[in-house]
Amino acid sequence: MSEETVLLSRDEASARVLTLNRPDKLNAMNHALVQGLIQTVDDAHADETITSIIINAEGRAFSAGADIKEAATRHGDSPEEARRHFDGSRGIYELGARTDKPIIAAVHGYVLGGGCNLAISADMVVAGETAVFGYPEMKRGLAATMVTPGLVHRIGPKAAFELLTLAEDISANRALELGLINRVVPDDKILDEALAMAETLAAYDQRAIRTTKRIFLKSTELPLAQSLDAAGEAMLLMREIGK
Ligand code: COA
Repeated sequence: MSEETVLLSRDEASARVLTLNRPDKLNAMNHALVQGLIQTVDDAHADETITSIIINAEGRAFSAGADIKEAATRHGDSPEEARRHFDGSRGIYELGARTDKPIIAAVHGYVLGGGCNLAISADMVVAGETAVFGYPEMKRGLAATMVTPGLVHRIGPKAAFELLTLAEDISANRALELGLINRVVPDDKILDEALAMAETLAAYDQRAIRTTKRIFLKSTELPLAQSLDAAGEAMLLMREIGK
C-alpha cells in the first residue's frame, strides 16, 4: 500500500471523516499515518466549511498502537535524529488540542497503546460494543512513555496507573465506566452514532461551540483561577460579539 493512502479523508455534510487505512497492520501508527493525521486535522481546522472531525478506521481494529516494527528501525538514530522525530510526532498525542472544532473518535476492535491515546485525544469517543481497550506495553517489555500523560489527563491517576502497569485489556463497557469513552453502541452503528453527534454539533452556533472547546481545553490544563480568568475573557468577548 502506498504511503499516500494510509489515511483516507471524505466529507459527510460538514463533518470531515478521517479513516485510518492500514487494515493489514491493524492500523499500527507509522510515521506516514501520524504525519497524515496531524496535517489533515490542521487542514480541517482551516476549512470554514467543516464543523467537526470524525476519526475511524478500516479493517478489524481501530489501531493496535505505535508501529513497533517501524520504531525498531529507528533504534540506531543519532540523538539529533531521535529529537527531530520526537518533535515531529509529539503532535499526535495532543491532536484534540490542535483545533477548537470538536473531534469524535469512532472506534472498534483493538484500541491499544498509542491507538487508545489517539482515541482519547478526541473530544468524544463512540465505541462498538466488542471493542477492546488497553495498554500492552508491559507485555512487550516496553516502558509506557508517550502514552502516559494523555491517559492521566483523561481518566485520573488511579485508573491510568492500573491500565498502564497491569496491562490488562478492558471491554468497551469498562472503558465507559472509567470515563475513557462516551458511548457504547452496536458494532454496526458506530459511524452512524458519530455522524448523528456531528449533526447535532453542526446545528449549534459554531462560535459558541468553538469558544466552549477553547475554554474546555484551558480548564483541563490550567489551575481553576487561571481557567476562570480565560473563561471570563471569553464570556466578555462573546457578549461584545452578540451585541
Ligand atoms: N506495530 C506494527 N505492526 C503491528 C502492530 C503494531 N503495534 N500490531 C499489529 N501489527 C501487525 C502484525 O505484525 C501483523 O502484520 P503481518 O501480517 O505483516 O505479520 C498484522 O498487524 C496483524 O497482527 P496479528 O498480530 O497477526 O493479529 P492478531 O489478531 O493475532 O493479534 C494483537 C492482534 C493486537 C493482539 C497483536 O497484533 C498485538 O499484540 N499487536 C501489538 C500491540 C501492541 O503492543 N501495541 C502497543 C505498541 S507500543
